[in-house]
Amino acid sequence: MIVDERITAYINSLDKELPSVLLELEKEALEKHVPIIKKETQGVLRFLLQLQQPKRILEVGTAIGFSALFMSEYTGKDCAITTIEKVAMRLVEAEKNLANPIFPNKDKITLRKGEALEVLKELVTEGQCYDFIFLDAAKAQYMSFLPELMKLLGKNGMLVTDNVLQDGTVINSRYSITRRYRTIHSRMREYLYTITHMEELSTVILPVGDGIALSSKLEQ
Ligand SMILES: C[S@@+](CC[C@H](N)C(=O)[O-])C[C@H]1O[C@@H](n2cnc3c(N)ncnc32)[C@H](O)[C@@H]1O
Repeated sequence: MIVDERITAYINSLDKELPSVLLELEKEALEKHVPIIKKETQGVLRFLLQLQQPKRILEVGTAIGFSALFMSEYTGKDCAITTIEKVAMRLVEAEKNLANPIFPNKDKITLRKGEALEVLKELVTEGQCYDFIFLDAAKAQYMSFLPELMKLLGKNGMLVTDNVLQDGTVINSRYSITRRYRTIHSRMREYLYTITHMEELSTVILPVGDGIALSSKLEQ
């Protein structure tokens, strides 16, 4: 936890309650240890969606569909959400949830199965364009997804990247990081450096949840 636990708990206590069906899905995900967006991240996402009112959303990392269903709740009727997942066990749960009639806006969501990099390339070939991208998959791959994401993100589009501060360890020296986490540590630092220094993007990093980077694609 990168922000004082009591401050986070207080802020979360002020947040709007989720619709009961989403609350149930959130509870189920947490019980099964599925890593879904934290409460405080939900607040930021809801705020951005209501402000920007995107029409086409791309999510990388569906898990069991919680955040896709969450986004379907806070977007207009004409919004379409595409979400990508590759793990078979997660796909079974996601397909079940995304077909469940208790979720009133589920029909906005299309699930694309497969390795994200491959699916992103397919979307580029199809000429797809998104005004909001939520990146919440394997952190070590963010850097390799970036060129495709930039092709898919429309002008003034928003790229939201979750888990960028890695529980705060991203600030530590490479040598203090356990050997098995060094690759992910250096790739995340490279990703953060890149999105904060690219001419096409304006980026701010918020110490919310596990860290969120908000990047807006500038008109060139
Ligand atoms: C943190 S979870 C997503 C949680 C979800 N966004 C939510 O908040 O409800 C990350 C998901 O991304 C998937 N994932 C990771 N790397 C991927 C890749 N290269 N291609 C497709 N899916 C991937 C994982 O299987 C996992 O289910």
